[in-house]
Amino acid sequence: MSHEHLSQALRRIAASGTTAMTDRATALRESGRDVISLSVGEPDFDTPQHVLGAAQVALNTGHTRYTPVTGTLALKRAAALHFRRDLGIECRSDEVIVTAGGKQAIFEALACTVSEGDEVIVPCPWWTSYPQMVRFMGGKVVPLVTQPHHGFRFEPSNFEALITSRTNWLLLNSPGNPTGAVYPAELLRGISEVLRRHPQVMVLSDDIYAPLDYTGEKHATLAALYPDLADRICTVSGVSKSHAMTGFRIGVATGPAWLIEAMGRLQSNTSGNPAAVSQAAAVAAFEGPQDFLDAWRERFRKRRDLVVQAIRAIPGLSTPVPDGAFYCFVDATPLMKRFDGDDGKLALHLLEHGVAVVAASAFGGRKGFRISFAADEALLEEAMRRIGAALRE
Ligand SMILES: Cc1ncc(COP(=O)(O)O)c(C=O)c1O
Repeated sequence: MSHEHLSQALRRIAASGTTAMTDRATALRESGRDVISLSVGEPDFDTPQHVLGAAQVALNTGHTRYTPVTGTLALKRAAALHFRRDLGIECRSDEVIVTAGGKQAIFEALACTVSEGDEVIVPCPWWTSYPQMVRFMGGKVVPLVTQPHHGFRFEPSNFEALITSRTNWLLLNSPGNPTGAVYPAELLRGISEVLRRHPQVMVLSDDIYAPLDYTGEKHATLAALYPDLADRICTVSGVSKSHAMTGFRIGVATGPAWLIEAMGRLQSNTSGNPAAVSQAAAVAAFEGPQDFLDAWRERFRKRRDLVVQAIRAIPGLSTPVPDGAFYCFVDATPLMKRFDGDDGKLALHLLEHGVAVVAASAFGGRKGFRISFAADEALLEEAMRRIGAALRE
């Protein structure tokens, strides 16, 4: 099979930048090298015992077959509870779709709505898969550039300036990957006012990191604050990040009935239902105890402080304090001459010194790199020491 057989759509995309670096670090480690991986976007905590127990019960009681394509009724009810309790979004179980990870929900929402030439506004730096998905659909990615001194948040007026008659989505991710930016209610109010002036624009609100918010404020999200706009908002969530369940592959989304129906139609012809055992585990995740999250959040917050302090102590590196998620987006512009202006080379240099990070350019960002601080404190301290040594060299 040669290159000519690849579709036009596939030729427009590259493999995920974060996955590529993580695979590289894993290969190096398997060959005996001492590499600390800060490239992967998953919690290092163990999946909670009550979730594992539910998965085991499901296996032993015959949950090994097809389920309804868009998820079991039990999980849709549990997801509706999650949307209401954790995000403040009122929805019924028939307004929910269960997918194989948040990633599939986002892909489906875009695949069902983006036609050739449609414009999708994506705040930048962005999660690597957003622009790739839009390009795959034949849409046009419209970057909404954000700056570190504004905490990587955009102003509603900058968003409005990019809207045209072809705009059909704003992709909003709060807390955000790769910057940790959190959009407070006040900023969402400004965004809602813009949306009211442009009825053709929908919002994909990716709230998958909502439980990991260090501001101390209640998580704010558009569909909860502005139910009158809810028929234009698709909110995506899941258990991957909040419950350390990345391998289970369960995501959930809620939105207008026509969109959820369309996503289900697509899912019925592509992946079919998400894994039955994983769905049973996700019911336990949403309905079971949530109190462990306070301890996890506190551990992440401490790690964030450790990393931010260490980064700021290294000459040439700077970063704003991320308000959520578990990433720190580091600017290394003053050091870039050494790497011919190529932050891919900078990331490889750090890999040579035993730390895997992802180049900022993988996220459409400035010269620098993203660190995931979902690693234990001792490992983070050693990683920061290695980064410092590599860059002071
Ligand atoms: C911003 C964002 N959205 C969605 C996802 C998808 O999560 P999953 O498909 O693992 O549930 C990720 C995972 O890295 C993410 O960082």
